[in-house]
Amino acid sequence: ILKKISCKMGVKSYIVGGYIRDEILNLESNDIDITVEGDGIRYALMLSKILNGKIEIHEKFKTAKIQADKYTFDVVSARKEYYAHSGILPDVELADIVEDIKRRDFTINMLAFDIKEGMIIDLCNGLDDIKNKLIRVVHDKSFNDDPTRIFRALRYSVRLDFKLEEHTELLLKQSIANGDIDNLSADRIMNEIYLILSEKNPETIVKLMKYYEIDKKIFKGIDINIKNLNTYARYGDVLLYRFLLFFYNVKKDDLDYLNEKFNFRRQYSKGLSDLIEIKMNLYTLKDDIAVYNLFKDKKIEAINAIYTMEGENIKKIVDRYFEVIRSLKLEVNGDAIKELGLEPSPVYKKILEKIYYDKLCGKIINKE
Ligand code: CTP
Repeated sequence: ILKKISCKMGVKSYIVGGYIRDEILNLESNDIDITVEGDGIRYALMLSKILNGKIEIHEKFKTAKIQADKYTFDVVSARKEYYAHSGILPDVELADIVEDIKRRDFTINMLAFDIKEGMIIDLCNGLDDIKNKLIRVVHDKSFNDDPTRIFRALRYSVRLDFKLEEHTELLLKQSIANGDIDNLSADRIMNEIYLILSEKNPETIVKLMKYYEIDKKIFKGIDINIKNLNTYARYGDVLLYRFLLFFYNVKKDDLDYLNEKFNFRRQYSKGLSDLIEIKMNLYTLKDDIAVYNLFKDKKIEAINAIYTMEGENIKKIVDRYFEVIRSLKLEVNGDAIKELGLEPSPVYKKILEKIYYDKLCGKIINKE
């Protein structure tokens, strides 16, 4: 299909980046990046029509995204970029594939497959680096141009089980020491953290972040947790759950600083304050009602994180919450109170809560 479109438009097009890398490594990948030496948007429209896909067009950047079955195609017009300042999104200028390849992060991501010719273009010995399991930049300013590459290098090295090539590691260390990460917006930093936490093995990546002292640069004095980051939540959203594990050691006093600096999404911010509140009260819980009161309006991912991190006694309490306390159902509702002649009011909630409490304490027992 791609060859047909290329020929019809009379332009060259290439599959580039991660998809080629993963194909060579025999890893499954559903994200296909296509670079077109010409009008990428027209190319994408044709592709989308043939595949009956959903297309999203970004005129400004001359790019388009197509979703078709399990595949995502990112189509771009070949471009050369100028980095005005480190960490700022680049200006775009049309150029040919060589320029496009050269602006990329690591040699293993610089392979391109020429669709018309059916052959791989390997300008920077990416094939050798894949064979030798090495992450290598092609120029010394790579991390400075885009400091998200610091995170990307660690992510690839763990995911693919590759090593940082010696000079690349040196440049990475220098870039960290120079404070290049400070040039990234808080949003871009958090995006990298979310990408890391979505990996199969975030624990090792976060350990590397600590090893290179990246956490000290971005989270100042906050102690990032590395334990249990590879686990999955029993309930709820796995990314939020891992985010809460990542920030498990955060103190109440750090919360405002973090929220302000990183502008966390609402659910994440609530999750974090829930987590802190539960942790502060966890070892004073006397009975089921206290557990119910502490847990009832908390994010389920926060309770899950507590379950994973705390000892056996707490695990028992959380188990009881999920298995008994939370699933306790009342046989009556507001209608029953109305039938008794009481006008609807906030008192209903109090009455129902009292019935619930009594049931929890065993004061009310079901007929059966
Ligand atoms: N890229 C880059 N510098 C960045 C981000 C991306 O040079 N800071 C380039 C890389 O060549 C990468 C391509 O853009 O291969 C696509 O980026 P992305 O989809 O993030 O990476 P993939 O290689 O597809 O990796 P993943 O498997 O993580 O999606």
